[in-house]
Formats: sequence, C-alpha cells, structure tokens
Amino acid sequence: MKNMHSIRTDYVKGEMRMQDLLSTPEQQLSVWLDDAIKSDALDANAFCLSTVNAEGCPTGRIVLVKEIKGESLVFYTNKSSSKAQDLMLNPRAAATFYWPELERQVCVRGNVSVVSDKENDEYFATRPRESQLGAWVSDQSKTMESRETLEKALKKVEEKYSGADKIDRPPHWGGFRIEFESVEFWQGRASRLHDRVVYTKDGNGGWGKSLLQP
Ligand SMILES: Cc1cc2nc3c(=O)[nH]c(=O)nc-3n(C[C@H](O)[C@H](O)[C@H](O)COP(=O)(O)O)c2cc1C
Repeated sequence: MKNMHSIRTDYVKGEMRMQDLLSTPEQQLSVWLDDAIKSDALDANAFCLSTVNAEGCPTGRIVLVKEIKGESLVFYTNKSSSKAQDLMLNPRAAATFYWPELERQVCVRGNVSVVSDKENDEYFATRPRESQLGAWVSDQSKTMESRETLEKALKKVEEKYSGADKIDRPPHWGGFRIEFESVEFWQGRASRLHDRVVYTKDGNGGWGKSLLQP
C-alpha cells in the first residue's frame, strides 16, 4: 500500500467569511447542497449518519438527504434496520456531509423524530418501481443465507404486484427527521487554517453564529 504520509491536499478552493453566511443553517445548508449538486459531486446529497446504540456504541453509515425543511433534514430507510433501532432507543443523531470537490464539510447534530405516514406515502409514491419493490424485499441489517434469499423474495413480490399500477408502501419503510441543534460549516483553507462557523440556537428562537478554531 502507498505510504499515506505522502497524501497531502492543500485546500485553496474557497473561503468562508462569517458575514457571508445566511441567517439560518437551513438556508446556508440549502445553498451548499445546491453548490455541491452543481459541482457534479457524486451523490451530492449523501451524508454519514451517526447513531448510538443502547450500549453507547456509535455506528456511522451513508444515507441520502431527501428534504431540508423547517430547520431539519429528512432521510428514508427501513424502520427495522440497525440505525432505526438505535434511533428508537436513543433519538439523537449526527449527519456529516463531505464534498471534496468543494473542500467543504457540514456537521449537523440534533434530536430525531419520525416522519408522518402521509409524508412517507407521498415520498414513496415518487420512487422508481424497482426501489419500491426492493423496499418490500430487504429485511435491512439482518443476516441471510445467500443472495438467493433476496432474489426469491423479489420474485414473489414482483408476482404479487404484476399488473398493479401502485405499489403499497411497506409499513416498515419510512423517514426520520433530524432537527437542527447545531450545524457547523467547514471550508478548507491553506496551511490547515480552515474556516469553521457553527450555528447554535440563541435562546430567543433565532440562531447565533460562532467562529471555531480550525
Ligand atoms: C451513497 C449511498 C447512499 C445510501 N443511501 C441510503 C439511504 O438513503 N437509506 C438507507 O437506508 N440506506 C442507504 N444506504 C445504505 C446504508 O449505508 C446502510 O448500508 C444501510 O442503510 C444499512 O444500515 P444499518 O444496518 O446501519 O441500519 C446508502 C449507501 C450509500 C453508499
């Protein structure tokens, strides 16, 4: 393996000044997500979701943000999965975005709640048919004998819905909402002297911003 000591990026693509940041983290994150989408970043809406289980053990994995609304972000998953079990017991999470194309990172932290059945149904209806069928097939995070298990289950569900226009949403499939408690924006800078600004609630229903040392 190549010696990783020699991997060095000098971050020079941008700078972030406190006065240029919008007044809420929701607005600022929306702008940075748009920038990432425009930069042709692969899976620009992907973030690392960190949860903590009942024993206090953390797990991170990538999921996709599907909506940013009302000071929160929403992702969808299987509600019987390991991540969902963590969140049911300990409804707090961190969401970490990284866009290397822009030398930017965003770290979100907050309480988690479930998305309503109505919103779940509305979003599920917009998904491609194969993804809708896949949601019925996978018992996410559980062990299985072989890939054949999945293929057999897919065949069964394809038969069940053959000719049907609408695929029902599985009851175990839905969204979680992470409510913004703190949101940190990071822009890489030269000499490792990066720009960091964190938004936290100001106690009067608004948001305050603080500079952080890199
Ligand atoms: C780019 C990318 C996007 C993903 N998006 C999702 C997603 O939106 N929802 C989801 O449940 N899993 C998604 N996954 C799979 C998860 O990383 C993970 O493997 C799965 O949700 C099971 O996690 P768990 O066992 O910790 O619950 C994605 C993986 C990658 C690499």
